[in-house]
Amino acid sequence: MLPIAILRDMSSLAELFSNNKSWAQNLITRDSAFFEKLSVQQHPEYLWIGCADSRVPAEELVGLAPGELFVHRNVANVVVHTDFNCLSVIQFAVDVLKVKHIIVCGHYGCGGIMATLREERVGLADNWLRHVDDVIQKHQNLLARWDHDDASRCNHLCELNVIEQVSNVCKTTVVRDAWERGQELIVHGWIYGMKDGLVRDLHTSASSLEEARANYLKAISTLPE
Ligand code: CO
Repeated sequence: MLPIAILRDMSSLAELFSNNKSWAQNLITRDSAFFEKLSVQQHPEYLWIGCADSRVPAEELVGLAPGELFVHRNVANVVVHTDFNCLSVIQFAVDVLKVKHIIVCGHYGCGGIMATLREERVGLADNWLRHVDDVIQKHQNLLARWDHDDASRCNHLCELNVIEQVSNVCKTTVVRDAWERGQELIVHGWIYGMKDGLVRDLHTSASSLEEARANYLKAISTLPE
């Protein structure tokens, strides 16, 4: 006889399989060939780079169906120029899938951003969050002028982090090469509010390296001083 705790775990996983069956059935009811078509090819127009946070379901919050959004998520939606996981996703999305938009979407109240701001130890993830700490160090003067309320400082840092990561995306060889060969590609910076479910544009979109530089500076200047 299996211990009760294990039986309980198995029954909750059975629920996931049952959910999956209803989900697939719903899609087939709307379009009987849905999965047949999807299994042959994907044609997403968008690459989403977002936080791993379970409260930020990428496709769902922008109303897109399977096959419409190429997704990369990590803790605090960070784009690091030596992270071959994220770079490979960007390369495949741009060079092979030819997405037209790359969206870096952060979210207010991000746990990773807050932990970094408060210098709290999380564990191994602290090493990853050093990239957010780099953002703090780079903008020390700006942060020094923000008010002392942790929640509002965290939210501004969530915005600042997105603006920095958009700049990092624009500086990748993949995106620069795409722009150089005239490929249509726009990089955007958005932030999602968990309290109202709404996405906001941080006005840092760029369709060239020059525009990226100019809009980066403009977006930073809109943050409170
Ligand atoms: Co987060």
